[in-house]
Amino acid sequence: MTLDIPVTEPVTEAAKAKPTLPDAATVTAVKHWTDSLFSFRVTRPASLRFRSGEFVMIGLPGDNGKPILRAYSIASPNWDDELEFYSIKVPDGPLTSRLQHIKPGDQIILRPKPVGTLVLDALLPGKRLWFLATGTGIAPFASLMRDPETYERFEQVIMMHTCRTADELTYGAELVANLRTDPLLTEIYGDDFAKRLLYYPTTTREASPLMGRITDNIASGKVLADLGLPPINPAEDRAMICGSLAFNVDVKAVLEGLGLNEGANSDPREFVVEKAFVGDGV
Ligand SMILES: Cc1cc2nc3c(=O)[nH]c(=O)nc-3n(C[C@H](O)[C@H](O)[C@H](O)COP(=O)(O)OP(=O)(O)OC[C@H]3O[C@@H](n4cnc5c(N)ncnc54)[C@H](O)[C@@H]3O)c2cc1C
Ligand SMILES: NC(=O)c1ccc[n+]([C@@H]2O[C@H](COP(=O)([O-])OP(=O)(O)OC[C@H]3O[C@@H](n4cnc5c(N)ncnc54)[C@H](OP(=O)(O)O)[C@@H]3O)[C@@H](O)[C@H]2O)c1
Repeated sequence: MTLDIPVTEPVTEAAKAKPTLPDAATVTAVKHWTDSLFSFRVTRPASLRFRSGEFVMIGLPGDNGKPILRAYSIASPNWDDELEFYSIKVPDGPLTSRLQHIKPGDQIILRPKPVGTLVLDALLPGKRLWFLATGTGIAPFASLMRDPETYERFEQVIMMHTCRTADELTYGAELVANLRTDPLLTEIYGDDFAKRLLYYPTTTREASPLMGRITDNIASGKVLADLGLPPINPAEDRAMICGSLAFNVDVKAVLEGLGLNEGANSDPREFVVEKAFVGDGV
């Protein structure tokens, strides 16, 4: 599945070098995936260190000069020279009604204090790592899937991503397709790297090859049968969850029913959870 949407031209080195906003980062590329989803890349402040899976506050100056800031997962891995973000466009959203119009060379505000629970250190060692996301909740996993450390720690990574419609899956589908043949990862992990990253994209409101909610596909065992995996169990399986609050609550209940417990940075366990947004769906 590909969408024929051109990527904008990269910004010049001169523009990158001239930040004027406090905590400014310069936009280097923008790609619109659907009417309601886009991704963009910005320059990375030299001092910004983060763990793959963390989020930062980004924004734009408001009309009154006060910044409009929102939490955003960093979608790029921690080794990348730039930062990538994957964003919703909320029609009347204070930030995204404006952010969706950014172009290369524009500046955004980036508060350089990364935090978050979706980090490898918050999980006990295990065999398989499940990434469970709806909508833009795939963003932290776009970072973790591109980080070689994820595959150092886990034999297999399973990316389950569910959206309402098939076009909303395209960002993740392209990312996974590129990763399976990524020279860096195949050089480290060999030709069977493709088997280390299993991808299970589903839709719920439009027909596509795989359908259904993540909760249902786990609870029914369908995903296990389709991918040839053993039952999820607390000895071998670890998970990270990122979606609406309702999704997070429901997945958490399914995993707890299978004997897995929620952990945190300070208390690593079998799974961790983070909201993909605050608001409806609660
Ligand atoms: C920890 C954390 C990480 C986040 N990471 C991302 C990210 O990587 N990408 C991203 O697009 N957003 C992310 N968000 C949401 C983001 O902070 C903003 O809410 C979003 O950019 C919309 O901002 P806004 O000012 O336009 O609208 P807001 O006033 O913030 O939101 C208006 C309404 O839009 C809906 N909404 C907001 N964000 C989303 C979303 N992502 N998906 C579906 N519906 C949404 C909700 O119903 C919300 O009540 C994250 C939120 C949290 C708490
Ligand atoms: N994305 C759109 O096309 C769209 C359009 C209009 C408005 N909105 C609004 O934008 C916000 C976010 O939309 P979104 O589509 O990104 O997120 P969403 O409404 O949370 O749905 C994303 C995916 O998650 C599934 N899902 C939702 N709740 C779940 C749960 N408790 N357990 C398991 N799976 C669950 C949905 O399945 P189901 O389809 O079965 O619910 C859908 O496939 C919502 O407030 C929505 O009303 C979105």
